[in-house]
Amino acid sequence: MKIAVFSTCVYDKDFLEKYNTGHELVYFEQALNFENVGLTKGFDAVCLFVNDKANAKVLDELKENGVALVLLRCAGFNNIDLEAAEEVGIRILRVPAYSPEAVAEHTLAMILTLNRKTHKAYNRIREGNFSLESLMGFNLNGCKVALIGTGNIGKAFYKILKGFGCNVVAFDPYPDQHLIAEGLSYASLEDTLCEAEIVSLHCPLSDHSFHMINEQTLKFFKKGAMLINTSRGGLVNTPDVIQALKSGQLGYLGLDVYEQESALFFLDLSGEVIQDDLITRLISFPNVLITSHQGFFTREAMQQIAEITFANADAFVKGAAMPNEIKP
Ligand code: NAI
Repeated sequence: MKIAVFSTCVYDKDFLEKYNTGHELVYFEQALNFENVGLTKGFDAVCLFVNDKANAKVLDELKENGVALVLLRCAGFNNIDLEAAEEVGIRILRVPAYSPEAVAEHTLAMILTLNRKTHKAYNRIREGNFSLESLMGFNLNGCKVALIGTGNIGKAFYKILKGFGCNVVAFDPYPDQHLIAEGLSYASLEDTLCEAEIVSLHCPLSDHSFHMINEQTLKFFKKGAMLINTSRGGLVNTPDVIQALKSGQLGYLGLDVYEQESALFFLDLSGEVIQDDLITRLISFPNVLITSHQGFFTREAMQQIAEITFANADAFVKGAAMPNEIKP
């Protein structure tokens, strides 16, 4: 199959080349959108990542250009209009789970960094400042943590939290019976948020979950609590969170994802003036840590993404069962 790979970075190319099962791959650095969809003429498939946009207009053009398949090299699919894809007959395959531990471990890294301020200590020590002033943290052992979403990543993170001796409470519209048997307790979203010192989001972005963290729900948080979002930027209303940081209602914020990330993340903009005033405000807080959607970024996850992407492509070519297909 001839596949147009969008949003390609050097590391994507390395892993896709290594695990290619014989497809013709053409790489584009740009994210797919309506302006550049013409590049897909003559391709059988496109391979997309989190910030490529396949809305109804783009899908129409893809169909027109001969594309029959979208291979998502990620789990989330909020950037694809599934109804429109079904209407034009384009099949959508994804990588539903690739090393959930990678994201869970990055979540832990964000919590530990915000809490114990190792990033600040690193800089201080390099400048000969050995003072402990304002570096005090709190014990994770015994700390109450709210998990919002207990799917693959939430589960992996629950295991880690148990190891640290945290008290975990969860909200998920579909509670996991195995986790309940292991001792996890579920509560309503409001009760889950009220009780926690740390709130960590592990649910998909959908019409239901869009801006689930907003002015209203932030009022349920314990004053000074920590919010971590490693799921999707749209789960959080950024201006509301900025207000909560300014008032002290939110004590710490860790973001691996950001609602407007497509114009920023994965790019080196160090020589440019950042035009996004919300992210520059967030960066200015001493108690905010932002990473550039790197939760998934481990060797193991990259290998699984490449292997499953090609297994998906091969199943499509052979007309075999496609368990990773997503439908509206
Ligand atoms: P999953 O599909 O295994 O689990 C999602 C869970 O969220 C399910 O149990 C579901 O019932 C629950 N859920 C659905 N709506 C909810 C709501 N409104 N409130 C609370 N829970 C809700 O997904 P997985 O693999 O655990 O991934 C979770 C999210 O993590 C993905 O949707 C994706 O957005 C994000 N992700 C981020 C990565 C990164 O690099 N930062 C990498 C991979 C995924």
